[in-house]
Amino acid sequence: MKYLVSVLLIFSISNANVVDDYLNSLKTEVLKNEPNFKGFDYKRGEEIFTSKHIGKKGKEISCTSCHGINLNESSKNFFTGKTIKPLSPKANPKRFTKVKNIEKWLKRNFNDVYNRVGTAKEKGDVVTYIITK
Ligand code: HEC
Repeated sequence: MKYLVSVLLIFSISNANVVDDYLNSLKTEVLKNEPNFKGFDYKRGEEIFTSKHIGKKGKEISCTSCHGINLNESSKNFFTGKTIKPLSPKANPKRFTKVKNIEKWLKRNFNDVYNRVGTAKEKGDVVTYIITK
């Protein structure tokens, strides 16, 4: 039991470090264009995640179309119907553990929904939203 607790603790700490480092690097990027930038915002992130747009395939979708509205539950891919595991790192400790993976999917998924890549600010806002859910 003690072992399990420490493993979980170490895991969640390393997980948090990956997200923090990632958010810090995005913040550095935003500050280049916006010297008065205060920080990433949950509310802006919520709007990015839940609002609908005509996506890459010409259909109106949002991030929630594939990830659902409850990020602690599994959801279904809007196009393929395949199950997607919970996006919240609270429910799914594998989330936000590899920057390469986060970047790959944000690029792809912003394209799915917004038909373009996300800016550093948008990515930081939406990640801030997801990890607090
Ligand atoms: C067409 C379906 C679809 C849409 C729309 C979609 N996603 Fe995803 N997303 C996926 C799939 C599939 C994966 C990869 C499989 C997995 O990780 O479970 C993924 C993975 C991710 C990950 C990876 C997290 C990690 O570390 O494992 C993030 C972050 C993410 N999506 C955010 C978003 C955001 C933000 C939006 C809206 C801009 C969005 N997604 C819209 C299907 C979608």
